[in-house]
Amino acid sequence: MLAIIGGSGLTQLANLKVTRRLAVRTPYGEPSGPLTFGEIAGKAIVFLARHGYGHTVPPHQVNYRANIWALHAQGVKAVVGVAAVGGIRADMRPGVIAVPDQIIDYTHGRASTFYSVEDRGVQHVDFTWPYEPVLRKRCLAAAQKTSVAMIDGGVYAATQGPRLETAAEINRLERDGADLVGMTGMPEAILAREIGLAYAAIAVVANHAAGRGGSAEAISMQSIAAILEEGMARVRTIIEELVVTHGG
Ligand code: HPA
Repeated sequence: MLAIIGGSGLTQLANLKVTRRLAVRTPYGEPSGPLTFGEIAGKAIVFLARHGYGHTVPPHQVNYRANIWALHAQGVKAVVGVAAVGGIRADMRPGVIAVPDQIIDYTHGRASTFYSVEDRGVQHVDFTWPYEPVLRKRCLAAAQKTSVAMIDGGVYAATQGPRLETAAEINRLERDGADLVGMTGMPEAILAREIGLAYAAIAVVANHAAGRGGSAEAISMQSIAAILEEGMARVRTIIEELVVTHGG
């Protein structure tokens, strides 16, 4: 079964016929909210709002382990994490949708592994390609089928938040090779890998990153909201197609 973790601007799926909501307890505490089980065009899907249904959980306080554990425990095999990001690379303009293929993790102090000593001992997990290639391709195919433009690839920089970055930090991220910047991509991706879930991300560029383009002086929260609303409508179209062709 496919799961969608929705980020800012995507707290529900419009065409989802909800069949049940389930509050799952995990060894790691509570997920961000109940899992919403439903169907799109007769295909089963699970939805979870990363920041809670009232958008009350900030990026650094999301219980990523509980979220991923809960989905896995319910029989989910593949997860698409949807997230709002800032655009660093010139073509990652506000409104652009991308499927990143790499991650650089700048977060700190988050519970970022299932393999702490008290849990499952010492393990080293391959993470050379952090996103599952087949699921990435399915996302790209769904976008193509629905004629929604989507950029294939990009390096996602995961920052700690909840504050946005300084202009100098964005320059540094660019020198590091980052194309997009967001606050929730990690540890979500590695936890999915550790537990054996296929994971891909759909990133919606909500704003130019700090110091770039329209964000040269400041990042406007109002324009972020407007861009996200429109961008997430296109993401819903992609997800519906993804579920129709690959859900179940
Ligand atoms: N930086 C980090 N996270 C974000 C941004 C940004 O500019 N925009 C949306 N999420």
